[in-house]
Amino acid sequence: MKIAEALQQMVARLDSADLCFGHGTDNPSDEAFYLIYGLLGIDFTDEQAMLRELSAAEEALLEVALKRRINERVPTAYLVGRAWFAGHEFYCDERALVPRSPIAELIGGSFEPLLAEPAGKVLDLCTGGGSIGIATALLWPNCEVDLADISADALALAKKNIALHNLGGRVRVLESDLFDGIDGRYELIVSNPPYVPLQEYNELPAEFVREPSLGLISDDDGLQIPLKILRDSVDHLSADGILVMEVGYSHSQLSERLSNVPLLWLEFEQGGEGVLALTARQLQQYREQFK
Ligand SMILES: C[S@@+](CC[C@H](N)C(=O)[O-])C[C@H]1O[C@@H](n2cnc3c(N)ncnc32)[C@H](O)[C@@H]1O
Repeated sequence: MKIAEALQQMVARLDSADLCFGHGTDNPSDEAFYLIYGLLGIDFTDEQAMLRELSAAEEALLEVALKRRINERVPTAYLVGRAWFAGHEFYCDERALVPRSPIAELIGGSFEPLLAEPAGKVLDLCTGGGSIGIATALLWPNCEVDLADISADALALAKKNIALHNLGGRVRVLESDLFDGIDGRYELIVSNPPYVPLQEYNELPAEFVREPSLGLISDDDGLQIPLKILRDSVDHLSADGILVMEVGYSHSQLSERLSNVPLLWLEFEQGGEGVLALTARQLQQYREQFK
């Protein structure tokens, strides 16, 4: 069977399997392409590969992966072991969430107009496998980036990604419960923390349950961790620094809770919502509200 034929068959099977697409792709065609090209290690731009004949071993490999995708609801990024974020490749496995934050678009736009110039020091808080911080380090060749997470497992994956991009000289990992283990100040703190209320977590499609729950669930209607980050960021920002934080669909809850705070909700052309920006001065001014 040629790859093009295998792709067609896989799209049909994915399409009829009532799956949730939301871990790097949003439709069966892209998912099948990702699975086949990703698992076989083919460059995604190689259109000629479509005409190549699959070996029996390759067909068997794809069949096993497809069955796991359909029957066990394993996200394709975990099956392939790789994810692409902000145009860069990352190792990806069950130790951290599949990278998919709309913050990728901000990185693509150099965080303009939020920052007028590249940040010298950046903290990626709740970094998971490190994709946001590493993509930011790749954007700004002179900046130093700290990747912080409470999960030693996630940080082990982040270390692999630092090595993949040869960034050991200026990107490091910090095991820390939010800011507990963080010293110093940053011009940019960027964070995609857990923000899913427990009740909603229990209703999520099975694909999400494949991800570490530590990366998703936050108490107090999903707001406990985001509020702590809002409260404590100012102690770790330079005077002109900014916080960029994703709270996804919990943004309406947060806006309601903080109705006196001028939260700046960013807009995205490539999809996504619930990412806010606040300056260090605003974080200081409204600090009492974040308690
Ligand atoms: C939504 S995931 C985001 C991962 C990554 N930043 C991304 O965008 O793909 C949240 C991460 O926060 C980490 N986390 C949860 N509670 C934490 C805490 N109290 N302090 C630091 N990190 C925490 C989890 O281990 C998880 O890796």
